[in-house]
Amino acid sequence: LSVVGIIPAGGSGERLGASGPKAFAVLAGKPMLEWSLEALAGLCERIVVAVPAGFEDPPDRVRGGPSRSESVRNALAAAPEATVAVVHDAARPLVTRELVERCLSELGELEGAIAAAPVTDTVKEGEDGRVLRTLDRSRLWSVQTPQVFRADALRRALETDPGRLAAATDDASLVESAGGTVRLVEAPPENLKVTTPLDMRIAEAILGSRC
Ligand code: CTP
Ligand code: MG
Repeated sequence: LSVVGIIPAGGSGERLGASGPKAFAVLAGKPMLEWSLEALAGLCERIVVAVPAGFEDPPDRVRGGPSRSESVRNALAAAPEATVAVVHDAARPLVTRELVERCLSELGELEGAIAAAPVTDTVKEGEDGRVLRTLDRSRLWSVQTPQVFRADALRRALETDPGRLAAATDDASLVESAGGTVRLVEAPPENLKVTTPLDMRIAEAILGSRC
């Protein structure tokens, strides 16, 4: 097996509002991207990072696309040797090596294995500000990254039009629509996504309490 890490880090981080792209904003002493690189290193033969224009200098950095899925596709295209792809957002710096290992080991013969946490809020479906129905929370999962795939299944799933790629909020949904079977791997809710300045403060506090 050739396990390759794919890190989409090509977003601008508009909601964070830092002076540069989110993946390079300093978090607990180093650029946010570094935390994910450290968690994946040792489990991946190579890690290809999709970055914003102007950040492509180091090896294994490729230009991101206009949407997250297109960034994933660009990075995967740079690793034709990959048989297993570990996709992980730079925006989830709290990922642990242990979680990546569990996703890899649960892949088995399936097309995908993804980190996810059981939903703790009650979730309702609404329209025009009115409740249509209350969903059965016991069946709902809040999905994160890492998302581990058979590389071929992910490549095929990403061969779709830019509109569908832009609408996809994760990679697993594309693999699912292509007929792939994806396993849910229970992850700690602590593996949060840094979106806003408040998330930065929470992430700093968690990382600070780890060492
Ligand atoms: N991403 C990417 N290419 C894009 C858009 C997003 O590689 N065209 C990456 C981001 O860098 C991030 C992950 O996808 O690691 C999840 O996206 P998000 O948290 O939305 O980050 P940003 O798009 O950078 O933030 P914002 O939406 O606030 O601008
Ligand atoms: Mg975004």
